[in-house]
Amino acid sequence: MSELSRRNFFKLGACVVGGACAGNALPQIGQSSEAEGHATVAMTLPYPRTRLANLQELSVGKGLPRTYPDTSSPISLLKLGRRTVNGVGPDQDIVAFSRYCTHMGGALTYRSETGAYHCPLHYAMFDPAKGGLLVIGQATDNLPQLDLEIDAQGDIYAVGIKGLIYGRQTNVLASPDAR
Ligand code: FES
Repeated sequence: MSELSRRNFFKLGACVVGGACAGNALPQIGQSSEAEGHATVAMTLPYPRTRLANLQELSVGKGLPRTYPDTSSPISLLKLGRRTVNGVGPDQDIVAFSRYCTHMGGALTYRSETGAYHCPLHYAMFDPAKGGLLVIGQATDNLPQLDLEIDAQGDIYAVGIKGLIYGRQTNVLASPDAR
């Protein structure tokens, strides 16, 4: 140990034991101007406004497969044929849900004979007429439901999601390039 570093070592030890260090006696940690150069980047983004379909493409009781908010998130756009919770459109009967089961991500399908989304893995069922309510099964959460809007031409847009899509920490992440 050189004479200089030995002197600093004893100086630092005296500060710690005595509890009375001068401001310049301790190493300056975490005060580099480098930190000032990094801007904080938001990890999540607003939901995109995405056209899903036109009213004329829907048939009562048939789920229309789409994706939202990105291509790795399958959803189902559905016209139930009767006024329903959170339904939009002239008959307030159009809804959309994530197609990933909230238990372990099974791919759900809508069956008009039961009026429910069914999971092929462990047989959970969700009711689209009641906001995606879990009816039966091992899942503990209801299905995430999309917020929908319809314009004057009858085009249906997704503008958000209530609930967390299975397997995600957040529904809309900033791209890795933006971090
Ligand atoms: S993954 Fe759907 S019930 Fe288990």
